[in-house]
Amino acid sequence: MSMADGPVAVVIHARWGLTDARGGEMMSTMAGGDAGPAVQRRGTRRANGNPKETEMSNVQEIAIDIGIEPTDRQEIARGLEHVLADSYTLYLKTQNVHWNVTGPMFRTLHRMFEEHYIELALAVDLIAERIRALGGFAPASFAAYIRQGSVVESESVPPADEMIRQLLAGHEQVAHTARGVFATAVAANDQSTADMLTQRLELYEKTAWMLRSLIETPV
Ligand SMILES: [Fe+2]
Repeated sequence: MSMADGPVAVVIHARWGLTDARGGEMMSTMAGGDAGPAVQRRGTRRANGNPKETEMSNVQEIAIDIGIEPTDRQEIARGLEHVLADSYTLYLKTQNVHWNVTGPMFRTLHRMFEEHYIELALAVDLIAERIRALGGFAPASFAAYIRQGSVVESESVPPADEMIRQLLAGHEQVAHTARGVFATAVAANDQSTADMLTQRLELYEKTAWMLRSLIETPV
C-alpha cells in the first residue's frame, strides 16, 4: 500500500469500527484527531489533497450500535453490493427490452417489462439503503456495477424470445447472488437483511417463473 493509500485505509477502518493492531478502537487518526468517543472522523482526501470524485469530505461518522458485529455488517454490506449491482444491471436490461421489443407480442411484453423494471427500481433503493444502514456506502456507478455484478448487460436487440431468455438468466443469477448473502445475514442475526432478501428472492423467483412460462412450449 502506498502513502497515497493511507487515508483511504483509515476510511475503511473507521467506517466499520474495526480495531487496530494494538487492540484499541480505531478512532480518528486524521488531522485534528478530535473525535469524541461516539464520533469517528473519516479521512477523505488523498495525499495530494484532491478528493476523489466518489468520496465525501468533512463527514463525521457516528458509531453504529445495532447489535451486529462490525465485521458482520461489513461482510453483509459487501454482499449486498453484489445484489445491488446485479439488480441495477437487470433493471437496465429490462428497460432495454421494454423499449426495444418487437413482434406480435409487443403490447403484452412491453407492458410486462415495464412492471418488472418499476419493481426493480424500488428494489435497488431498498438494497442500497440497507447497505447504508449497515454502515457501508452504496455503489452507484455503471463502472462499479460492471465490476461487482454477475448479470451480463446486453447491447444488442435480439428477437423477443431471446430477450426473455436473457432476462430469465438475469433473474436466476441475482437469485443466486442474493441467496449467498442470505446465509451470512442469518448467521449474523441480521433479521432485517434476511427479511429483505427473502422478499427479494420471492420476487426474483416469481419473475423468473413468469418469464420461463412465456417461452415454454407445451408438448
Ligand atoms: Fe415506457
